[in-house]
Amino acid sequence: MTLPYYEDPGPGHGALPARAWFRSDAPCIDLTGTWRFHLSDTVAGAPDGCWAPDFDDSGWLDLPVPSSWPMHGHGRPAYTNVVYPFPVEPPHVPTDNPTGDHRRRFTVPANWANVPAVLRFDGVDSCARVWLNGHELGVTRGSRLPAEFDVTGVLRPGAENVLAVRVHQWSSGSYLEDQDMWWLPGIFREVTLLARPAGGVPDLFVHAGYDHRIGTGTLRVDTTADATLTVPDLGLVDAAVNTEHVLGGVRPWTPETPDLYDAVVATATERVRVRIGFRTVAIVDGVLTANGQRIQFRGVNRHEFHPDLGRVVPPETVRAELELMKRHNVNAIRTSHYPPHPLLLDLCDEMGFWVVDECDLETHGFQWFDWRGNPCDDPAWRDALVDRMRRMVERDKNHPCVVMWSLGNEAGVGTNHGAMAQYARERDPDRPLHYEGDRDCRWTDVYSLMYPPVDEVARIGRREEAPTSDPGLDARRRAMPLILCEYAHAMGNGPGGLADYQRVFEQYERCQGGFVWEWLDHGIRQRTSDGREFFAYGGDFGEELHDGNFVVDGLVFPDRTPSPGLTEFAKVVEPVRIEAGPDGSGTLRVTNRYDHRELDHLRFTWVLEEEGHAVADGELPVPQLPPGGHADLDLPQLPRTSGETWLTVRAVLVGDWPWAQAGHVVAWGQLPVRPAPLPSDAWPSGSRPRHGTGGGPGTDRGTVGGGGGGGGVMLGPAVFDPARGTLVELFGLPVDGPRLDVWRAVTDNDCGSRRGVRFAEQWRELGLHRMHHRLVALTYADDAVVVRTRVAAAQQQVGLLVTYRWTADADAVGLQVAVAPDGDWPPVPLPRLGLRMAVPADLDTVDWYGPGPGEAYPDSRCAARVGRWSATVDELQTPYVYPQENGNRVDARWLRLTDRSGTGLLVTGHPVVDFTARRWTSEQLDAARHTTDLVPGDRIHLNLDLGQTGLGSGSCGPEVAERYRLPVAPARFAVTVRPAG
Ligand code: GAL
Repeated sequence: MTLPYYEDPGPGHGALPARAWFRSDAPCIDLTGTWRFHLSDTVAGAPDGCWAPDFDDSGWLDLPVPSSWPMHGHGRPAYTNVVYPFPVEPPHVPTDNPTGDHRRRFTVPANWANVPAVLRFDGVDSCARVWLNGHELGVTRGSRLPAEFDVTGVLRPGAENVLAVRVHQWSSGSYLEDQDMWWLPGIFREVTLLARPAGGVPDLFVHAGYDHRIGTGTLRVDTTADATLTVPDLGLVDAAVNTEHVLGGVRPWTPETPDLYDAVVATATERVRVRIGFRTVAIVDGVLTANGQRIQFRGVNRHEFHPDLGRVVPPETVRAELELMKRHNVNAIRTSHYPPHPLLLDLCDEMGFWVVDECDLETHGFQWFDWRGNPCDDPAWRDALVDRMRRMVERDKNHPCVVMWSLGNEAGVGTNHGAMAQYARERDPDRPLHYEGDRDCRWTDVYSLMYPPVDEVARIGRREEAPTSDPGLDARRRAMPLILCEYAHAMGNGPGGLADYQRVFEQYERCQGGFVWEWLDHGIRQRTSDGREFFAYGGDFGEELHDGNFVVDGLVFPDRTPSPGLTEFAKVVEPVRIEAGPDGSGTLRVTNRYDHRELDHLRFTWVLEEEGHAVADGELPVPQLPPGGHADLDLPQLPRTSGETWLTVRAVLVGDWPWAQAGHVVAWGQLPVRPAPLPSDAWPSGSRPRHGTGGGPGTDRGTVGGGGGGGGVMLGPAVFDPARGTLVELFGLPVDGPRLDVWRAVTDNDCGSRRGVRFAEQWRELGLHRMHHRLVALTYADDAVVVRTRVAAAQQQVGLLVTYRWTADADAVGLQVAVAPDGDWPPVPLPRLGLRMAVPADLDTVDWYGPGPGEAYPDSRCAARVGRWSATVDELQTPYVYPQENGNRVDARWLRLTDRSGTGLLVTGHPVVDFTARRWTSEQLDAARHTTDLVPGDRIHLNLDLGQTGLGSGSCGPEVAERYRLPVAPARFAVTVRPAG
């Protein structure tokens, strides 16, 4: 039985040979806009003959093109990561195959008569059959790849034309497009009619190299056209194509210096504009270099997604997100896991990014079957795979930003990869090949891994990795640079541990950086019935199989506001390091970590802050430093201070850049100048415990057992509930607590993955989320109330013995807490260790002195700098799409919670305290599934912590490293509380 066209495993048919995407002065007609649309549930049910020009589509709906039709109320989005949402029987697809018929009428000027023309589709998901004026042009698959059809002779210049496009959600191509993302059918990129004048430029291939040893550029533009080449800024006028020009005085292209030269390739009938960037990418002695310099990827994986539009990302959004990346020191993008919209590459050329351009190929669902049946190893699919590679390479070959081609993602290994690689190598020998899925690196030039732990990266850096099966391949791989095509899983709160990876990238020449997974949360904007906005994820659209919130794992939220992970990334990868000089030298070290440039675009400013107040500032002269160079500089003349003092030095842009204005902070460092003096005020003491109802303990020593007492026990400004040993009132404010807290609303990274440790599960097994507090004793001495409790979960023998020692004077209350593990605890870290207390809801302004302004955790705190900060309780929350622990501030010296009148509490750490403050409890946060589940209560829940366990990357990568885990171990900490103001 012959297969229907949408199940044919071969490439589509009818399209023209692939070629470069370029701008020309030949006329073109943009066919985006409002089209007519009709959705059918099955292919057979689609309206017959609707491609005929006179078909009556008046009963159809309007739909914008480009669009992902489920985002416009037709059908529903569906999310799966690895699994196919249909039975795996390639190349067959379900009978229930949403099929969208699209029609567009347009007129073509009469002067197009006798001009050859093509119709270009930049992206259709997943299979399109195309008719113009009732004439079938062909079929295209390869969703994120262009297809051009020759319409010469079919087009009616001077008249109305009718374009009909039938799009099937499922096709043989769906087996090749099993990327971890929403399934979203539609014509999601532009449709354009292009005049292709006879004698024009059918295609061109720019080869622009740079010889760093002699500082010359080489330029050859290959084309079959009878054309000339003009590059005004290089003095080339009507120069020959297909000839190498050696050019002196060329400024090389790098992401740090994205110098482009405008060029025109002209024939008698067409002028094509290209922008040329001179650079030579080569692997030299096992190191990936550009223009002779080792390069480092400070990269992100970028999917194309928009929370309202699906796969359609408006150009202004793309530009804005690239600007955001630049401002956060991102220098590289892996276009996971398909070629991006062509505009992205133009902007990357212009703004300066390395791009790993990835083929539209992923067959991950076959991993379930040990890759049996994988199309990548089946000759029947070979042409389709090579076709995909060809269409990417041809389209994108002229972009200096494209540093490597990638054969795809998570598609196992098969001989078809070899055929794809062979195509790319023969066509474009100047770019290395990437593919992560083959541990033997048979077809590639770089060794690529995802999510290895830091120590494995270091081992590879030392070339001490375990050998692969074949000695020849092993030797080859051992000589390759290492790239982490994915690392640091930014799902929810995280990733932790970025700085540890960065250290290894900087230490080992072979380790050339990586790409954080991933740039963007793919949440879909929705509203509750009462109009509150939230972002939906897998399962929210009733999918039969789905992978929940695994689709929201980016450094920016779905609306592209940065999450704290991005701020941390920007700090960790900053291209200038500012730190204390060698021990005892009293100097400041500035290191140029750019790959290619000096620091002449930056100036260095300093400010001296005493307890968060600026006391002096100035400019710091920094000599020019070559890439990799450093200078140890004397500190500026600083005034004497007496309080805790920090010197902050910032590297800021001198002038405006397309992505940031003068003054933008590229890098910063903070040096301690003077530590905090020892506290001058004595620990509060002197108040005597007494019963609030009279009588009471007086000055006698005594014990109040659980439940005993009656009436409040008072100590200075603190009133206790003697039944529980917690406070009910403090400085006249109603409070509840504090009591020991070990729980946090688990993060995605706490939940782990199938492969790794699942802390959240272990914590729940231990019952850390449902601890009981048994009052062992409440004793009072001359000047103290001592509360002892045992904290443990139901059906657990292990527990924590806690001693709270309270003292007070008229103005302050002191609390010393000692914690000792009781019983035989398993080797599991605690989520947190600290105190939780509820305070009135109107104490909702928080000021603090310590690291800030953003949230921080033990393995993600580089971006926090010591200063005085202020935020409302609402502003302290990070609205992770899937609610979880967030908003922690570390090492506060003090924090003040006040209401509008300035009344409230001042908490001082001894010496420091971590805190979170929110309008819901950790349990409510833990139970919430969407941000709109979080409803403010009538109190603020304040955590004052000794610490928390770090974040790690456990939702897909390594769990939090040992040294960032909070052990179950004896611990002590102390705070004092005073009235604010
Ligand atoms: C990788 C994969 C990505 C994404 C990530 C987890 O294995 O290449 O597409 O699924 O894991 O978020």
